[in-house]
Amino acid sequence: MAPNVVSPTPPWWQTAVVYQIYPRSFCDTSGNGIGDIEGIRSRLDHLEWLGVDALWMSPVFTSPMADHGYDVADYCDIDPLFGDLAAMDTLLADVHDRGMRVILDWVPNHTSDQHRWFMESRSSNDNPRRDWYYWREGTSDKPPNNWQAVFPAGPAWTFDEASGEWYLHLFTPDQPDLNWNNPDVRAAMADTLRFWLDRGVDGFRMDVVHMIGKDPTLPDLLSGPGSPLLEYDEPSTHQHLREIRRVLDAYDGDRCSVGEVYLLEPDVVATYYGNDDELHMSFNFMSVWTGWDADAWRRVVKGAQDAFDPVGGWPTWVLSNHDLPRHRQRFGGDAAIARAAVLLLLCLRGTPFMYAGEELGLVDAEVAPDQIQDPSGSRDGCRAPIPWEPGHGHGWPAAKNWLPFPPEAALRNAQTQRVDPASIAWLYKDVLAERRGSSALQRGSQELLEGLCDGILAWRRSYEDDERIIVINMTNEDVEIDLAEPTMIRMSSVASHQNGNEDHAFDGGIPANSGMILVPRR
Ligand code: GLC
Repeated sequence: MAPNVVSPTPPWWQTAVVYQIYPRSFCDTSGNGIGDIEGIRSRLDHLEWLGVDALWMSPVFTSPMADHGYDVADYCDIDPLFGDLAAMDTLLADVHDRGMRVILDWVPNHTSDQHRWFMESRSSNDNPRRDWYYWREGTSDKPPNNWQAVFPAGPAWTFDEASGEWYLHLFTPDQPDLNWNNPDVRAAMADTLRFWLDRGVDGFRMDVVHMIGKDPTLPDLLSGPGSPLLEYDEPSTHQHLREIRRVLDAYDGDRCSVGEVYLLEPDVVATYYGNDDELHMSFNFMSVWTGWDADAWRRVVKGAQDAFDPVGGWPTWVLSNHDLPRHRQRFGGDAAIARAAVLLLLCLRGTPFMYAGEELGLVDAEVAPDQIQDPSGSRDGCRAPIPWEPGHGHGWPAAKNWLPFPPEAALRNAQTQRVDPASIAWLYKDVLAERRGSSALQRGSQELLEGLCDGILAWRRSYEDDERIIVINMTNEDVEIDLAEPTMIRMSSVASHQNGNEDHAFDGGIPANSGMILVPRR
């Protein structure tokens, strides 16, 4: 595919905006203080009101919840905490009835230590499933290599006294790594995909998928003891991804994959698209490591263009997810910045991934040290329950939920914001509608506009005769720019301007920390 061009009939996921739901925190209907599948179903009107196209659910499969579902004990069943298969089928049907899609979170790198496969593997050194995981000989005082777990601090190996061997886990000891070098593992994992594809899911977010291929000799990291997560790029992963792609391609409906490829070099991330025969999309996490700084963002946007365009890889954009402080928090908490960031996320070329609650302008909850739930200890703040209503309980029935609400929930809740057209929720809604109505924004080419003024990030999107220019002032000062072409303001992030106002001429002025969508005047 030529650079910066999309097919005239793009697959749904190229024009979609995806909304990530962390099910524990979305909406509780059972009254146990933890969100559930029925809760998601009961709030679909919110997603429809907003105008997103697909929802990605963090894992809801059977799990002991050592990592809140990222430790799967059965890929083909639903944890009773969240509901059951019937509830999931009903949700799928309802989402589809509303013209939206569902992406499930598939966790291929590791299972729970309570998965039947691991319990069998662990049961004896000659169990037929022994080789489904990475077991290595050694003495109890020296792990087999210098890999460290991402969390908790310590080696990525646990010594099993009973069998006198170590097993590998890139995350907690409750999350043993599957051995994808074993063809039976690959076949079993492909079956878990088919199970959900047969039930009608539209795609998968694939958890730490760049780690599934491993050199069976498991050599030390040359850089010294540490986690391989940010640097591991093993050729066999690409072979596994081609097999996975063939599983998806055997189904109709453009079923898609988006990989959590936690490598911070866009050029390397782009190789995970293969020759359009591996991942359909991959997260490019440079965006979440970038502050509110126009020069830094220009480098990120240019880095993505240079990496993805030549290979025809469709980019993705993300500012927040369940693993990081929310972006409003990271950008300093300013309400104006949170609003300008809506244009940043939704108007760049590629598929944007929103994180539930960002449309309410949420910051992270404060979680007391003795209330921490997360095995890494640092991610609870962004996983706070979503406030639905202003009053007591914010739409959550339990007296106490698994985590406290985020600050200012009496204002930053769905009900209050949905009746206020000047709210950030309405800005998301309006920009999403603008995006849907503009082929330039949905799938047009992208050109960075250089040299306008320090602190300004600006780019042009074009598709046939549809054109938009987006300008974002990432400074605390009002600035004037000269675009050298007459334009009309289509939309502004400034609250007092009201979203979706009547078009009027752009005079070059952009208030501090604000953004505008402009249309050339012809
Ligand atoms: C991914 C998930 C994270 C999880 C980890 C282990 O990074 O996003 O939440 O803890 O994988 O599965």
